Amino acid sequence: MFPVARPRRLRYNPVLREMVRETALSVADLIYPLFVTFGANIKKPIESMPGCFNESIDVIAQSAREIHALGIPAVILFGLPLHKDEKASGAYDPDGVVQRAVKEIKNAVPELLVITDVCLCEYTSHGHCGILQNGQILNDPTLELLAQTAVSHVRAGADMPAPSDMMDGRVMAIRRALDSEGFSSIPIMSYAVKYASAFYGPFREAVASAPASGDRKSHQMDPANRREAIKEAAFDIEEGADILMVKPALSYLDIISDVKHAFNCPVAAYNVSGEYAMVAAGASRGWIDYEKVMMEILISIKRAGADLILTYHAKDAAKILNR
Ligand code: PBG
Repeated sequence: MFPVARPRRLRYNPVLREMVRETALSVADLIYPLFVTFGANIKKPIESMPGCFNESIDVIAQSAREIHALGIPAVILFGLPLHKDEKASGAYDPDGVVQRAVKEIKNAVPELLVITDVCLCEYTSHGHCGILQNGQILNDPTLELLAQTAVSHVRAGADMPAPSDMMDGRVMAIRRALDSEGFSSIPIMSYAVKYASAFYGPFREAVASAPASGDRKSHQMDPANRREAIKEAAFDIEEGADILMVKPALSYLDIISDVKHAFNCPVAAYNVSGEYAMVAAGASRGWIDYEKVMMEILISIKRAGADLILTYHAKDAAKILNR
């Protein structure tokens, strides 16, 4: 007790402060999201996500080289198809936008780990994450298409599919399909605990994937639920997930912590588009310090228990960490 105990003793000296620091953020923790599109020489800014772009396949290798040069070990790919239809055919087309981008990136920078988002919402005409019948998403018929999508990504050279759809049983369906195609050594990063969040707004603008009607509450989780996160994560582990993801990150630090403590596996957190947009908007007005707020957010996600962080800040953070 005071005056014997004085916590400030460990804070006066910057060297000592660094020695007793409990959490470290490393460039090796970061995963950078990329939005790929068809066309030539396209690098179209995403308005609500300053510094992020829709990039065509022919320019994606250049971005991949830049990301790799910063020491960022991995990217996650999202695709904008030419055509959308009821069956999301663009998602599992062997010549689809993600499949072609994967090949391009792996050719240019083989060491860069390529993760692919597996969901149908970017590819369906109605913007829902699965096969629709009378306004309802059919769970089991959707699994077949998700499995085909994951297999097609891996055939193109992807290192790790990441199912983000929140259908029941999708990890098992993808695991079985990969195994039967000879890809038993390919890991799955599951968006295990994904909330029905308004923080995905800017992303849906970026890939034009907002549902034409309704919302995603019949499959994504209620933000009020905590216990249910453990149930979702446990199912995914039993079904064969290798890495568990929590999404979004910032409003769900308690969930990251719970999942980290409950399971003996790496945990990833997705610092989503709306979280990024808020920081970028505040900083552009001069109301907050972009670099300091960004680093504080990233360390808080790490401190909560995330081993890996998917973030649009990855390049900016890497530049700071590499200084
Ligand atoms: C689904 C998917 C979404 C995000 C990642 N994968 C959108 C959604 O569920 O509506 C959101 C990512 C972000 O907001 O940064 N394909």
